[in-house]
Amino acid sequence: MSVDRHRPRRSCLAVPGSNPRFLEKAQGLPVDQVFLDLEDACAPAVKESARDLIVKALTTGDWTGKTTVVRVNDLTTHWTYRDVITVVEGAGDRLDCVMLPKVQDATQVRWLDLLLTQIEKTIGLPVGRIGIEAQIENSRGLVNVDEIAGSSPRLETIVFGPADFMASINMKSLVVGEQPPGYPADAYHYILMRILMAARTHDLQAIDGPYLKIRDVDGFREVAARSAALGYDGKWVLHPGQVEVANEVYSPAQDDYDHAELILDAYDWATSEGGGHKGSAMLGDEMIDEASRKMALVIAGKGRAAGM
Ligand code: GLV
Ligand code: MG
Repeated sequence: MSVDRHRPRRSCLAVPGSNPRFLEKAQGLPVDQVFLDLEDACAPAVKESARDLIVKALTTGDWTGKTTVVRVNDLTTHWTYRDVITVVEGAGDRLDCVMLPKVQDATQVRWLDLLLTQIEKTIGLPVGRIGIEAQIENSRGLVNVDEIAGSSPRLETIVFGPADFMASINMKSLVVGEQPPGYPADAYHYILMRILMAARTHDLQAIDGPYLKIRDVDGFREVAARSAALGYDGKWVLHPGQVEVANEVYSPAQDDYDHAELILDAYDWATSEGGGHKGSAMLGDEMIDEASRKMALVIAGKGRAAGM
């Protein structure tokens, strides 16, 4: 059994696992993915009770049309193994992925892969169906990101965690997602590109993390547009007000989508028998070749996934 690496993830909603009201409300929002959080959105005192709330929400809730993910605690804590065991034993058949935060090297992902396999075998779930999302949140994780991205066939995405990342490298800013004052260029460019290269090398999705000024929708749009332009597949959303913007920004513009479909049609026709098996075609005054077809496929694929 293998995981699905191409599910839509334009909007990935963070839901505190300790809050039954939010667990309920999340089911009604038009997001591509929810992740029910046992890590930083849960205070230490409620982390254990949140496991049961998450199992209940997954098994009794209606998550139709959404990718379901649970974020467990990172491997420097003592919570991780019980998070995984409780949630997967309790609701494994309703769960698409486990998100592992603050991943530092490939062994941490392999640990999770093995544990998932053991649980799946023990309780009779198909082995290998539950995917893994790896969050890169510190310099060690980024330095090892190539190895991490290739560490398990369960991996579906590499996720940038800007809040922890900024703290871990001592970046001089207190507003997550904003540029640090004093630096004249984009302080996130290198990190975003580094993650994107590793993800694409292993045919994984790349997901941008949160923007914490939740009432500043224009600020969210601006930050999202940057990673979307690079090729990122989606971004975390923390508030219903960010959802629609994420779904829009990480979908192709209608004009681009229509143009991509025209390119594919023109290329298919030119290379077919009717078109004389040519290697290129003209679309208006634009020459279309195999590389144009590949670029068009990316846009068309995202548009089709978004139901355009
Ligand atoms: C997310 O986990 C972040 O640290 O930004
Ligand atoms: Mg974090």
